[in-house]
Amino acid sequence: MPHKAIWIDSFNQLSIREIKENYVPLEAETLIKVSFSGINPADLKHGIHMGVNDNVAGYDFSGTVVKAGPGSRFTAGDKVAGLTPAMNPRPHKNGAHQQYLIAPDPTVFPVPEHVSMELSATLGVAMRTAIDALFCVLGLPEPGSKSENPGALLIWGGASGVGTAAIQLASAAGISPILVTASPQNHETLKKLGATHCFNYRDEDVVDQIKLLMSKSGKPLAYAFDTIGNVGYAHMSDLCFSSCSEDAKVVSTIPHGKALICFATTAIDFSFESPNGRVTFAARLADAERTSRILEWAVTSLKSFAMPTLRTVSGYEAGIKAILESAKGTASFEKVVVAHDTVV
Ligand SMILES: NC(=O)c1ccc[n+]([C@@H]2O[C@H](COP(=O)([O-])OP(=O)(O)OC[C@H]3O[C@@H](n4cnc5c(N)ncnc54)[C@H](OP(=O)(O)O)[C@@H]3O)[C@@H](O)[C@H]2O)c1
Repeated sequence: MPHKAIWIDSFNQLSIREIKENYVPLEAETLIKVSFSGINPADLKHGIHMGVNDNVAGYDFSGTVVKAGPGSRFTAGDKVAGLTPAMNPRPHKNGAHQQYLIAPDPTVFPVPEHVSMELSATLGVAMRTAIDALFCVLGLPEPGSKSENPGALLIWGGASGVGTAAIQLASAAGISPILVTASPQNHETLKKLGATHCFNYRDEDVVDQIKLLMSKSGKPLAYAFDTIGNVGYAHMSDLCFSSCSEDAKVVSTIPHGKALICFATTAIDFSFESPNGRVTFAARLADAERTSRILEWAVTSLKSFAMPTLRTVSGYEAGIKAILESAKGTASFEKVVVAHDTVV
């Protein structure tokens, strides 16, 4: 079925393109009519930094199953959401910013009645990344495990999509205290979601403020999740290491010399060319399955789960503008989704 898509070309320019291919779901895959696609910084940054381009852009989506492969757990008519995998080269059928896409079952979840299709289109990347960081990479006890509170956790960038998901997941897991850095206008909202202490990352002495709080508590700050990565020449993981106790575990969304790394997609190897040669992050299948299980539990059980303020844009011109803005990182506490039913 010919349809429209937002294309990222080999020079990382975005444009609207007609797709002529007929997508057919294989084994455990589904063909999905996209309702909304969620915008992430990676939609453009993966092209610029990792050469993931010359394909349909985007990862996050929600929509309706049109046809299920013979091994799929879904059936036609199901309302679903999730993410399509990051890989290089990337098949056209997997891009999220198009009217129809093909998604593999393991990263797709059924959308419960109480979650809107707009919100569900923002959950795949942010929640999978946060779950991988907290429960797979840092090894914190997952929600419902009845393990002892492991102690303080620092989330650098609590107002990011990944950070907002991480605060609520950590809180659901009984982790306390949850220290968060964000702009002051977001502190009250983040406290309602589970943050116990908020700091302004623009304060010059922000690291000292965090260390003072922890020294008063007499307990170590042994875990940190840097959801932001590079800001200009600075890497936020360095500030996490400076804030924490000496043997702390720090995980980041963006590679850093000393920090551990988390990913939205861990079911397949992810490799790309870098200035230092080809880099490969090997698949972690058990972690991918664990991530899917926790995500489905959270989406079903955490009835008031929230993401940054949602903005819906109509049409692919507006979608392209929003992808460019997202990659610049200038918006505060906002998630943008593209509505596909208005595209002609
Ligand atoms: N490894 C992976 O698989 C993976 C997956 C997802 C995302 N990522 C990466 O993770 C990063 C976050 O992605 P996202 O989609 O969550 O981002 P996002 O929602 O676009 O993040 C925007 C927020 O970042 C906050 N922020 C900006 N600079 C900050 C700083 N210096 N310290 C603390 N907070 C700061 C701002 O908070 P305030 O409004 O409070 O100022 C803003 O609201 C991106 O670099 C993205 O490429 C990687």
